[in-house]
Amino acid sequence: MIYLLAAALALVVAGCSDDGEERRRSLGRSPSFSDLMQVADPARGGRLFGTCAACHMAGPGAGDRNGPNLYGVVGQPPGETSQRFGYTAALRSLGGVWSPERLDTWLTAPAAMVPGTSMRFRGISDPLDRADLIAYLQTRSARGSVRRPMPAQPSAAR
Ligand code: HEC
Repeated sequence: MIYLLAAALALVVAGCSDDGEERRRSLGRSPSFSDLMQVADPARGGRLFGTCAACHMAGPGAGDRNGPNLYGVVGQPPGETSQRFGYTAALRSLGGVWSPERLDTWLTAPAAMVPGTSMRFRGISDPLDRADLIAYLQTRSARGSVRRPMPAQPSAAR
């Protein structure tokens, strides 16, 4: 199902802009997360967010669906972005904040990171798709509207 959606999205996206192939080629075989975030494309991430939109909105003051509104989620403690949503104790007890790196782990396999989460979503296996989605989420905040999305911390000089 997700593959069908992804294929359909890829067709739509190919018609109007970068589907990521050029970036994939330039990134090489196993790019680091910070390499991926350096080239992440929030506009493509916004299109990929269609996969999430059955359960999530991401606008200022938007309501919750099956899942919480995600406006401002980057940098927030897990389980605190939406005031009204009934988060699981499993998610709320994670602690810390949603850094881009943690979102990457979450979006890879939510139930593996937080056993007992109510987010019924298998995860996204493609690292560039996850990076684009995270870059999109970074723009969905009061900070994001005035600043360019922040790349992840660059890895130590090689
Ligand atoms: C089938 C519904 C569903 C889909 C699809 C889904 N989510 Fe979720 N999501 C949830 C639920 C439910 C929660 C709350 C989990 C909990 O409390 O354990 C959640 C929580 C989250 C959180 C943590 C929010 C917070 O305030 O701490 C993030 C980030 C998130 N989802 C991102 C995404 C992204 C990005 C996608 C698409 C790639 C996605 N989700 C797809 C239902 C969904």
